[in-house]
Amino acid sequence: MTSTPTPHTPRTPTPRHYLMCRPTYFDVTYEINPWMDVTKHTDNARAVAQWEQLYAAYLEWGHRVELIDPIPGLPDMVYAANGAMVVDGLVYSAKFRYPERAAEGPAYQKWFADRGYVTHTAAETNEGEGDILMAGDVILGGSGFRTDPAAHRELAELTGHEVVTLELVDPRWYHLDTALTALNGTPDQPLIAYFPGAFSPASQAVLRERFPDAIIATERDALVLGLNSVSDGYHVVHSPAAVDFPAQLREHGFSPVGIDTSELLKGGGGAKCCTLEIRPAPED
Ligand code: ARG
Repeated sequence: MTSTPTPHTPRTPTPRHYLMCRPTYFDVTYEINPWMDVTKHTDNARAVAQWEQLYAAYLEWGHRVELIDPIPGLPDMVYAANGAMVVDGLVYSAKFRYPERAAEGPAYQKWFADRGYVTHTAAETNEGEGDILMAGDVILGGSGFRTDPAAHRELAELTGHEVVTLELVDPRWYHLDTALTALNGTPDQPLIAYFPGAFSPASQAVLRERFPDAIIATERDALVLGLNSVSDGYHVVHSPAAVDFPAQLREHGFSPVGIDTSELLKGGGGAKCCTLEIRPAPED
């Protein structure tokens, strides 16, 4: 069954606060996801240049972007989204699945603590916004490869938000943000885009029921990590290798912006992986 998109009010961007990490030490020196291949050459200067384009776009759109210093020996630190999850100004630290990335959790947590944020050291394994996304007031939690569902429960208790567990079943989409994008942050009408094939049948059913109006991404776009995109409510940064997604976004009133992050894809990430959103405490 196909449905025509319901008429929507014009999309407006809302100012965002992001944390990013320049890929100074980016390289592929180990393999913890199917995208990584240590025998392939990585061009660090190219990775930095691509990252700079992303950074510049956010600044141009008026977003506040802070930077954490990259640490030698942590080549994946550029994927800032994995460093923590920040909800209502509260920082839930990452606790990485693989020892290669373990030191990133405390590094990101310290960055927040040094700036006066209340931080919570996670007891359960989780990879921050890589697996934990917000759709309106609801938190979507990925599991299956990296994040333990116990972390979803820990986060629900900590934040008071409902956390919906979604099980990933294909290692190419090992993090939730490789297969699902939250397109607008408004609590009333959360809109998401996702690729069903990345999820277990039970989780596909949950997604269908919860988000009947979601954009369903094509497999060819999912296969270039086209879903690993960042929305400010109007601009949606995506991989230019995604061919169907831009038109789908336009139909829904968004402004798709292709930014090439192909060098960073060699580590298994794109624009979203490089962008940690700092969500402020709600104003009372
Ligand atoms: N090499 C990193 C890893 O496998 C890539 C992380 C990408 N980040 C993301 N948010 N999906 O952990």
